[in-house]
Amino acid sequence: MQFTLIATALMAFAASAVSASPVSNEARMILDVWAPKIISPNATTVWAEGQQYNVTWDTSDAPVNISNGAAVRLGKDKVLTNTTLASGFDLRQGWVTITCPSDVIPGDDYSIILFGDSGDQSEQFTITETLESVLGF
Ligand SMILES: *[C@@H]1O[C@H](CO)[C@@H](O)[C@H](O)[C@H]1NC(C)=O
Ligand SMILES: *[C@@H]1O[C@H](CO)[C@@H](O)[C@H](O)[C@H]1NC(C)=O
Ligand SMILES: *[C@@H]1O[C@H](CO)[C@@H](O)[C@H](O)[C@H]1NC(C)=O
Ligand SMILES: *[C@@H]1O[C@H](CO)[C@@H](O)[C@H](O)[C@H]1NC(C)=O
Repeated sequence: MQFTLIATALMAFAASAVSASPVSNEARMILDVWAPKIISPNATTVWAEGQQYNVTWDTSDAPVNISNGAAVRLGKDKVLTNTTLASGFDLRQGWVTITCPSDVIPGDDYSIILFGDSGDQSEQFTITETLESVLGF
């Protein structure tokens, strides 16, 4: 997934580089993408369906200006799913509270992708079923 995103960013950069010379501010800004390190979830994390958790990331190296429109999407088996867990928060905050979806198949190959200027994927973690999610409470 990250390869695809990086490739897209590079193609966008290449496209802007040919259309503007010398290298424009726009092209430099594309190179300034910030991919924060995701702290949680990580390989030791277990989420129970229907429960609330914080997704957290390191903001110590955050640039002064970062674009809006941050979002957290769920990934499974290294593939981005259509499940958006959170959106419209400030990336500089370093955390966002999400609710683990109740309608996913339990597994140990989940990840989250934090979107800001770029897409950043977490380690794979586990989602487990709860009695409540099985019974549909
Ligand atoms: C991994 O995530 C857990 C929460 O799921 C957190 O408590 C722990 O500090 C994280 N580990 C590292 C090394 O950041
Ligand atoms: C998420 O983090 C915030 C700020 O540290 C805290 O107030 C809140 O209780 C946390 N929520 C969960 C579900 O851990
Ligand atoms: C951040 O953005 C503001 C407003 O667009 C601009 O005036 C400022 O120079 C920018 N700072 C940096 C470090 O890019
Ligand atoms: C995700 O959304 C796209 C566009 O709406 C759709 O074509 C695709 O089938 C969806 N994938 C899944 C797994 O639901």
